[in-house]
Amino acid sequence: MIKLTVNGKPASLDADPEMPLLWALREDLQLTGTKFGCGMALCGACTVHLDGQPVRACSTPLSAAAGKKVTTIEGVGSSKTGRAVQLAWLKLDVPQCGYCQSGQIMSACALLGSKARPSDADIDAAMSGNICRCGTYNQVRAAIHDASATLTKGA
Ligand code: FES
Ligand code: FES
Repeated sequence: MIKLTVNGKPASLDADPEMPLLWALREDLQLTGTKFGCGMALCGACTVHLDGQPVRACSTPLSAAAGKKVTTIEGVGSSKTGRAVQLAWLKLDVPQCGYCQSGQIMSACALLGSKARPSDADIDAAMSGNICRCGTYNQVRAAIHDASATLTKGA
């Protein structure tokens, strides 16, 4: 039995420890907001947080999450940063097809968690592993600046 915390709630999974965390989230826990893209840690669609750090769930074994805290797109909005990022995404109408956007938001939240006022270069570096076939990169960047402004207002 593998025990972990997912979006603040304890979870116990009777599953193969080598199974990708992505399958545990999508198949066992029905958290389908995290998407499967390449399956090879190349596109970022499956990005979740493991103890606050962005990881590619498609290439992270379930065993690596044992005893740790996993946050997915379904839970990230309960943090101040996650809420600000999601509101900025809505305000600037970022998504097109939407497929990459869960991963984009998770990477954006991790960036703002480590750097409150990122530059364009910081954003490009942090988001370079999140591929968007619809080309929403400029909107993603603008939304991250918008969320940053919200979060640092008065700071
Ligand atoms: S599906 Fe995990 S990085 Fe592409
Ligand atoms: S919005 Fe379509 S892949 Fe990014």
